[in-house]
Amino acid sequence: MKWICSVSLAAALTLQPAFAEDLFGPHPLTPEARDAFVTNLLKKMTLDEKIGQLRLISVGPDNPKEAIREMIKHEQVGAIFNTVTRDNIRAMQDQVMQLSRLKIPLFFAYDVVHGQRTVFPIPLGLAATWDLDAVANVGRVSAYEAADDGLNMTWAPMVDVTREPRWGRVSEGFGEDTYLTSAMGRTLVESMQGKSPADRYSVMTSVKHFAGYGAVEGGRDYNTVDMSPQRLAQDYLPPYKAALDAGSGGVMVALNSLNGVPATADSWLLKDLLRDQWHFKGITISDHGAIKELMKHGVASDPQDAVRIAIQSGVNMSMSDEYYSKYLPGLVKNGAVSEKEIDDAVRHVLNVKYDMGLFNDPYSHLGPKESDPVDTNAESRLHRADARDVARKSIVLLKNRLETLPLKKSGTVALIGPLADSQRDIMGSWSAAGKANQSVSVLQGVKNALGDKATVLYAKGANITDNKAIQDFLNQYEKGSVIVDPRTPKQMLDEAVATAKKADVIVAVVGESQGMAHEASSRSDITIPPSQLTLIDALKATGKPLVLVMMNGRPLAMVKENMQADALLESWFSGTEGGNAIADVLFGDYNPSGKLPMSFPRSVGQIPIYYNHLNTGRPYDFTRPNKYTSHYYDAANGPLFPFGYGLSYTTFTLSPVKMSAATMPRNGTVNASVTVTNTGDRDGATVVQMYLHDEMASISRPVKELKGFKRIMLKAGESQTVTFPIDVNALKFWNAKMQQVAEPGKFNVMIGLDSARTTDAEFTYL
Ligand code: BGC
Repeated sequence: MKWICSVSLAAALTLQPAFAEDLFGPHPLTPEARDAFVTNLLKKMTLDEKIGQLRLISVGPDNPKEAIREMIKHEQVGAIFNTVTRDNIRAMQDQVMQLSRLKIPLFFAYDVVHGQRTVFPIPLGLAATWDLDAVANVGRVSAYEAADDGLNMTWAPMVDVTREPRWGRVSEGFGEDTYLTSAMGRTLVESMQGKSPADRYSVMTSVKHFAGYGAVEGGRDYNTVDMSPQRLAQDYLPPYKAALDAGSGGVMVALNSLNGVPATADSWLLKDLLRDQWHFKGITISDHGAIKELMKHGVASDPQDAVRIAIQSGVNMSMSDEYYSKYLPGLVKNGAVSEKEIDDAVRHVLNVKYDMGLFNDPYSHLGPKESDPVDTNAESRLHRADARDVARKSIVLLKNRLETLPLKKSGTVALIGPLADSQRDIMGSWSAAGKANQSVSVLQGVKNALGDKATVLYAKGANITDNKAIQDFLNQYEKGSVIVDPRTPKQMLDEAVATAKKADVIVAVVGESQGMAHEASSRSDITIPPSQLTLIDALKATGKPLVLVMMNGRPLAMVKENMQADALLESWFSGTEGGNAIADVLFGDYNPSGKLPMSFPRSVGQIPIYYNHLNTGRPYDFTRPNKYTSHYYDAANGPLFPFGYGLSYTTFTLSPVKMSAATMPRNGTVNASVTVTNTGDRDGATVVQMYLHDEMASISRPVKELKGFKRIMLKAGESQTVTFPIDVNALKFWNAKMQQVAEPGKFNVMIGLDSARTTDAEFTYL
């Protein structure tokens, strides 16, 4: 038995060797062996012990360590989250082995959303790479570091498709597109779970938030979601399904209601769809305090009612509330909940523990105490090269007038802006296991790139925001996350202008602080805060070339700033190596290749704006404007930057699309090919995107939908032919009767380097 290496566990075993031998393996990691094992274990458990397994708690002020010790002793807790050091985790697992009757190991979870110790770009930035190999590497490194910290599970990936830039959580997902989000989610599940979540350096994933959380009305967090069954099935559900097909062991249930039913109380969602139709065998976990919230939703009359509804709707484990522990015993006693219903939920908890290998080795992700890192935050634990590689791939070049970029490594560069020297913001939200002092700010990255070849001047220029209420709001989450400069705005501005005047080029790093794009950080206005707009105006007025490096976690409306900038780079929150990666792009050591995973609106009034909309009966044609067509009279219809858009320092051309055949037989395939040529004088990567449009169907179909993409690298002058196989699955949609069908008829194939400019062909599905 491997786990005997833990001294404390060995000591515990001597107390009850026979039973523990029985409990701990080696057990083969097969479903059959697991089912037999769990059935047997369930028979040994009291009702209270079973109910204890359904409780997931966070270590913190509400649950101090002493209280947790008591819970462990009395088998009142099944899993722990928000603790991330081997010491702490080992101490709790030791308590299980020493104090509890059954010694059922705890599992340990955390929000490993875009890295653990090494912080990678926020998921929206990862999606902007369109590079599944790079994202798989992010998954592997994140899982490695998380497992090395003793964790067994991550609350990720978040695959909530969203068309809502007002919603702060767009930063945590992969944007507006179903196909791209599915690919990202699938890749992360496969790479984080590896061959088995039981492996030393794998963790189990818990895809979230099931379902439809990205469609909260008005982009206001936790708000209502209401949509047609067709849209839900076609656009919002496939990424969860893709993550589950990839084997995700967990599902986190959404906080919102969906068509009137809170997800936590939705037996259609959690049982009929998830279990019966999709055959999900893993565990469902409520989101933070969601069971209690059923009363506020107005579907449960009191705590008992909330608990009964949640468990009977299919919520296996409750996160961060004491409700299951407190009320399930009584509910079983009075017959409102059967012991069989408890057993079903507990079985899922025990199953995932088994799949995590915890019944073979409760310390499998911990190893012997002597192997613990001397310093949890040691530099040697980081994966900087991996972080830099993916960060530079995530950066999107939005504008480059007269080839302002790349900059020369000579002369004087003025680096200005409240985000230019921020080590905290560049990590983005959900990065608490990372250390700000280990991340590279843009200022540092630029200095690293230039060495003594050029002069770098710096001025902050403005606060992130001068709005006191917003400063206070942001600092509520994380003390000191917004550092307010004691100088007056005018003093800061004057210094910035004086600094800019001494330079050959201005690089202004502006946008949002990390806390502005987070859970519970919805905005009704998605522009750059006014303090920074004043700064941009003043910098522009110097007449120096102006490069804007955007740091933000959502699409921003920045029509004027786009006009003011000579070059515009979208860098998201790019992580530990962000500053170096941004400098790589600024100075041409890396040729940008990122593409937007979300449309950037011109104004908040255009929201929702997304590329795969329906045509309507009165589509607007700007070449023949007509009053009674679908448009705004005070603004353009189209976005500032479309989905899939991003420039390069080189240029690419596309040949006409070639179809392998004019028709596609029933359930057959057809290929669409295009030849891409790098017509510039630099090597570069780009993303070839294939969209389909069903010209006429029984219900209206989107003007285009992404159905394939390929990131390619081309040397200057080089050409490559890219072929997209199209099969019947790409043609299918949910019809008015909620049947998934592919209807015969004409399909347009559109291939381009963004969603707006494509070269087209067609075929007929027979
Ligand atoms: C969030 C989840 C997260 C959980 C645990 C909740 O508030 O909605 O996404 O996984 O907290 O941190």
